[in-house]
Amino acid sequence: MTIKYETIDVLEMTPKCGGFIEGVDLSQDISNQQFKEIYNAVVDRVVVIFRGQKLTPKQHISFSKKFGKTQASAVSGFEKNTDYPEIDNLAYDADNPPHVTRDLWHTDFAGREKPTWGTLLYAREIPPEGGDTIWVNNVAAYEALSDRMKQHIDGLTAYHDSYRPYGETIRPEMWEDGGESLGRLKTERSIYRPALHPVVRTHPDSGKKGLFVNESMTTKIKELDFRESDYLLRFLFDHLRTPEFQYRHKWEADDLAIWDNRTSLHYALFDYDQYRLMHRIVIEGDVPYQ
Ligand code: SIN
Repeated sequence: MTIKYETIDVLEMTPKCGGFIEGVDLSQDISNQQFKEIYNAVVDRVVVIFRGQKLTPKQHISFSKKFGKTQASAVSGFEKNTDYPEIDNLAYDADNPPHVTRDLWHTDFAGREKPTWGTLLYAREIPPEGGDTIWVNNVAAYEALSDRMKQHIDGLTAYHDSYRPYGETIRPEMWEDGGESLGRLKTERSIYRPALHPVVRTHPDSGKKGLFVNESMTTKIKELDFRESDYLLRFLFDHLRTPEFQYRHKWEADDLAIWDNRTSLHYALFDYDQYRLMHRIVIEGDVPYQ
């Protein structure tokens, strides 16, 4: 189905998630009305894609800044673009696999007091096969829960640790260089300490409720003991993988995706050998609330 705004048309990709916006050249100035409609489409569809965009890094940055402050991720473990520190270079192939973004569903930087608003990911080089990204609409996932389950999780909060998928507990080599890596980690950890967020998050724009847990970083539900927390989280992670809540994107070079991290998860498939280069800009968010 196509949703018609005043200045843009959004082609829905699945009933619950994903939209394509055609006929907009993001290298040119866009009107306030057009920006407002793109923003609303991101909130509504969770992720929107623009094909065939020819953007310089500067144009990518200046368009991203319309959505908010770019969030430097100098200690995130991603390679910074040396000329443009706002941009993370996600550059991988078979010999240099991703160490953080693969393998687990996640929300970018959920382990911060203010997790990100969203992400603008620009496809620079795409392998001939593989490298898709899947998003999940966490509002759809929440709404599909039974009333009994909604009551059960109402008011719960959970800890999120951004370092869980790549911290010192699963990288023994970090202990082996005379403490240098651990020293660096300690400094980073004082900035990125585990954060406590509601399990059900209200979207500040739409007012809708969505699940706010992810298998990569959510470690424990504060109000439950370990075993109860583990079982409940495992159920929620599993529920969030339901195909009906998803959109899977097959990238082409020059695609730009914008997604709303406040009520979504994503999963970047690592099933390719050849080079994949993405430029990522992350936008600062606010403190989640139920
Ligand atoms: C990310 O997880 O932020 C990157 C997703 C991707 O590379 O497709």
